[in-house]
Amino acid sequence: MSCDQEICQVSIRKMELLDIDRVVQIDHISFSLPWPRNSFIFELTNNEASRAWVAEMQPAGGASPIVGMIVTWLIVDELHIATLATDPAYRQHRIALKLMVHSLCSGAQEGALKSYLEVRRGNLAARGLYQKLGYAEDGVRLRYYQDNHEDAILMSLQTIKPDLLKSLV
Ligand SMILES: CC(C)(COP(=O)(O)OP(=O)(O)OC[C@H]1O[C@@H](n2cnc3c(N)ncnc32)[C@H](O)[C@@H]1OP(=O)(O)O)[C@@H](O)C(=O)NCCC(=O)NCCS
Repeated sequence: MSCDQEICQVSIRKMELLDIDRVVQIDHISFSLPWPRNSFIFELTNNEASRAWVAEMQPAGGASPIVGMIVTWLIVDELHIATLATDPAYRQHRIALKLMVHSLCSGAQEGALKSYLEVRRGNLAARGLYQKLGYAEDGVRLRYYQDNHEDAILMSLQTIKPDLLKSLV
């Protein structure tokens, strides 16, 4: 299954336990420090703050239609972006943008007013994505990541504006 720019349609739905194999697969090919499988299970079964979503190709086809995933934490009026990835074969088709917009708008419906995340300094794709959504860079954790001691850039979206976000997708 390919994702031609003209025909690529994705829909966003809640992550379920049945999705874990595919979510872990996407996580492992996307990150140098992937989450343990049990962390995703914990998010779905034990973490009341967790809001986790998958992006699914429409119409569903191939072995698995899941092409992206996001885990967020809703803590009072803040939505924290915990992890986000798109399958490399489907990148730059606005799948992460859709996952982010859906998460932020859904979070806003539950009371989120602002959003926070951290991103590796060298991750220009992700930093570009977050800037497009309106996040500002407002801090640095020096040598934060364990594997290569890369800095973490702290980013915040001080006001979640659902109408503005929806106009991006
Ligand atoms: C970062 C990541 C999630 C982006 O996923 P994606 O589905 O390819 O992103 P989108 O197609 O939705 O991109 C939306 C915007 O992000 C920016 N962007 C995405 N990929 C980019 C790239 N390779 N270079 C520069 N900007 C990029 C652009 O502003 C883009 O807007 P545009 O379509 O108008 O150009 C993906 O590259 C990925 O999974 N990376 C590995 C995991 C990761 O780094 N996750 C984030 C951790 S903080």
